[in-house]
Amino acid sequence: MTRLHVNIDHVATVRQARRGSAPDPIAWALAAERAGAHGITCHLRVDRRHIQDDDVVRLRSEIKTVLNLELSLSPEIVRIALESGADCFCLVPENRKEITTEGGLDVVKESARLRETVPALGETGGLVSLFIDPDLKQVEATREVGAPFIELHTGAYANATGDQQKHELERLVLAAEHAHELGLCVNAGHGLDYVNTQDILALPHLEELNIGHAIISRALTVGVNGAVDEMLQIMTGQA
Ligand code: PXP
Repeated sequence: MTRLHVNIDHVATVRQARRGSAPDPIAWALAAERAGAHGITCHLRVDRRHIQDDDVVRLRSEIKTVLNLELSLSPEIVRIALESGADCFCLVPENRKEITTEGGLDVVKESARLRETVPALGETGGLVSLFIDPDLKQVEATREVGAPFIELHTGAYANATGDQQKHELERLVLAAEHAHELGLCVNAGHGLDYVNTQDILALPHLEELNIGHAIISRALTVGVNGAVDEMLQIMTGQA
């Protein structure tokens, strides 16, 4: 089955609203694991708006599944990532003013920096993915810089409706097929929720979904266990 990695950033967003210690994103991550999550994802941003350096250290020592660290190409964050012991790294674009990651990484434009950073992260033993829009040129560039995984940005699909959403899904399918032909593994995420995830599961060669905001929002009503379980039921066709 497609694996579910739960992104815990917005548990830390709530904590940072008061700069205190509650809610604890690590305790929340452990509860998500107990509910069946296959991995935990967090994004250490340059502005530290949610996840803090110490969260990454604590996650590494406390979670039992897989730690997937999202990061930009900022040299400071890359240095931390290299020491983090994360199992997977997902390189994402970052812009200080954005509310959330807006578009995919421009692998073509960033190829020089990626040709250094991707192998350096890979040498730690972690699996490296590039978060890209479903654009065939970006898929090809990912292969060229040596990353073994793409994470397809599902945001445009998630924000669209009707025929436009069908069109975005077709773009995702083509990108996933092309990635597989080139020997790349395929993950996906961003903006996925309890309604739009079902159709994404039809993406060919899909290995893993990264879902954060929708699960954390749902957990406010039904608790972590219920929110993760409901998503897993969708992903296993039991919903
Ligand atoms: N994948 C990547 C690369 C992301 O940057 C994010 C958002 O941090 C997600 C997945 C999860 O997005 P959402 O919180 O909308 O589920």
